[in-house]
Amino acid sequence: MVIAATATVRPEKTPQALVVDDDAQVRKTLGRVLKALGIGAAEAASGREALLVLEESGEVPIVISDIYMPEMDGLALLREVLRRFPDTAVLMLTGVAEVNTAVESLQLGAFDYLSKPILVDEFRIRVEKALEKRRLVLENRYLQQSYHDRLEANVRELNLRNKEQFLGQVQMAVQMLEKKDVYTRGHSQRVSRYAARTAVMLGFTGTMLDQIRLGGDLHDIGKIGTRDAVLNKPGPLTREEFEEIKKHVIEGEEILEPLRRDHAVVLEIVRSHHERMDGSGFPDRLRGESIPMAARLVSVVDAFDAMTTNRAYRASREPADAMEELLRCAGIQFDPDVVAAFLKAFPDASRLPLAVA
Ligand SMILES: [Fe+2]
Repeated sequence: MVIAATATVRPEKTPQALVVDDDAQVRKTLGRVLKALGIGAAEAASGREALLVLEESGEVPIVISDIYMPEMDGLALLREVLRRFPDTAVLMLTGVAEVNTAVESLQLGAFDYLSKPILVDEFRIRVEKALEKRRLVLENRYLQQSYHDRLEANVRELNLRNKEQFLGQVQMAVQMLEKKDVYTRGHSQRVSRYAARTAVMLGFTGTMLDQIRLGGDLHDIGKIGTRDAVLNKPGPLTREEFEEIKKHVIEGEEILEPLRRDHAVVLEIVRSHHERMDGSGFPDRLRGESIPMAARLVSVVDAFDAMTTNRAYRASREPADAMEELLRCAGIQFDPDVVAAFLKAFPDASRLPLAVA
């Protein structure tokens, strides 16, 4: 034990090699050859000692180890080194009669082996070869990794761009939809602005607020599929016509399906903005708090805007009247908290409806 402790040699800087042999003469010679190659080497007299050195220094590029040594032999050390530092190149030193052991060490992952007695020139060449190979392996891995990272970043950016492009397209579709119908011109934009300000009053911020704003803009996107004759009918709708209009919530949700992962709230708004607190709405006849909050919100401001603008089938109401109507229907059709927040967000009815471009 005492001998082992004194056998350990540590260079001043972090070692680039570790020579493990119970023969001090071998260690000394190999250490000198390595030094001439510009490689600072630590020394250890057994496997156990070698592990202590590695524990302190961390990974070293190359370990040169004898096979038969006291305490822990070369093969056990090889296993342990590769388990902890898979990138270390391990060179085994074997006696002439140890060919089988040499082969076994290669199977275990040793980089190479050298037969004793060791020729200095051969040793030098093998060490340089091992270090060169290790460098190439690491470089290749680095390149692969950075290629993989770059690829991943590109895919992420592409997804983002596709999504932005898609959003631009559906927003344009909403504008075209409103151009078809003089009565609903600006409806989505106003609903979006009413919804956003009411949402702020209710304490929503960040991405939730952004989605409510966008949901207000897109809530009727499904009406793209509704026939103009039904959309613009100047009179009460037949039962069939009303059924056709009702489909716009499901069709809208289908159109926006690509947004579901990042904009789930927008899809909730589109699907559920015609639900009513008493469960008599559509499409799912949801009741009370089972209606998504953002949809309850858009439901209120959508109704307000519908009441305060001219429609094909009726003239507009005064904003103050419309607010009275919201209050009257709070708890039946609308969420009372949302109605209260809306009135708080727009306290001066005489300045409504909002003017939009
Ligand atoms: Fe709608």
